[in-house]
Amino acid sequence: MNTLHIVHDFLRRQVKPGAFCIDATAGKGRDTALLCRLAGSEGRVLAFDIQPEAVNQTRALLAAEGWQAEVIQDSHAHMARYAAQESVDCIVFNFGRLPGGDPKIFTTADSSLPAIETGLRLLRPGGVMALAIYYGKENGYDEKNAILSYLKHINDRAFTILSCDWINRENDPPLPVFIWKEKSTCAIIKES
Ligand SMILES: C[S@@+](CC[C@H](N)C(=O)[O-])C[C@H]1O[C@@H](n2cnc3c(N)ncnc32)[C@H](O)[C@@H]1O
Repeated sequence: MNTLHIVHDFLRRQVKPGAFCIDATAGKGRDTALLCRLAGSEGRVLAFDIQPEAVNQTRALLAAEGWQAEVIQDSHAHMARYAAQESVDCIVFNFGRLPGGDPKIFTTADSSLPAIETGLRLLRPGGVMALAIYYGKENGYDEKNAILSYLKHINDRAFTILSCDWINRENDPPLPVFIWKEKSTCAIIKES
C-alpha cells in the first residue's frame, strides 16, 4: 500500500462519469489517464505541467490508451484561466518532481499554495481535491511544511480536510491529503 494506491482508490470512489476534472501536475500522465477513464467520454479533463517533457509523456500515454484530455503547458497557479469558478468536480495534485526527469525541477510552495487556493475556488460544492505530497529528497521539507500549515487556516465551515501520515514508515513517504468542498464560499481562509 502506498500513497498512489490510496489516492487512486479515493478517485475511483469520487469521480463519476461526466465529471470535469483537473490534474494539476501531469508528470507522466498516470493520474490524468485515471481521471479520463473515470470521467468517461461525457467528462472533461485538463492537465497542467510546466515541463515540455511531462506534457509530451502525458500526451503519449493518453494516445496509447485512447483517452482525450487537454494537456496544457502552464503552471497550475494559472488554472483559473482555463476553468470557471465552482465548475470542477475533482482536482489532483501530485507534488514533487517528474519521475526520471530533471531532479532540479520540482513543485515549490510559491506556486503550489496559490494553485491550491485557486483550486479550492474552482471546485464546485460537493467537489473534491486530492494531494500527494512528496518531500524530503531534492525538494526538501519547505513545500510540505508550507502546504500543511496553510491548510490549517482553510475555512472549516466550507471545507473538510483530512491529512494522513505513515506512522511506522521510514524515508519520508509521500503524504495523502483529501479535501471535500462542502458548500460554496468566497472565504477560503478562516476568518479570525
Ligand atoms: C510528481 S510529478 C507528477 C506525477 C504525475 N501526476 C504522474 O501521474 O506521473 C510532479 C510534476 O509537477 C510538475 N510541476 C512542477 N511545478 C509545476 C507548476 N508550477 N505547475 C504545474 N506542474 C508543475 C513537474 O514538472 C512534475 O512533472
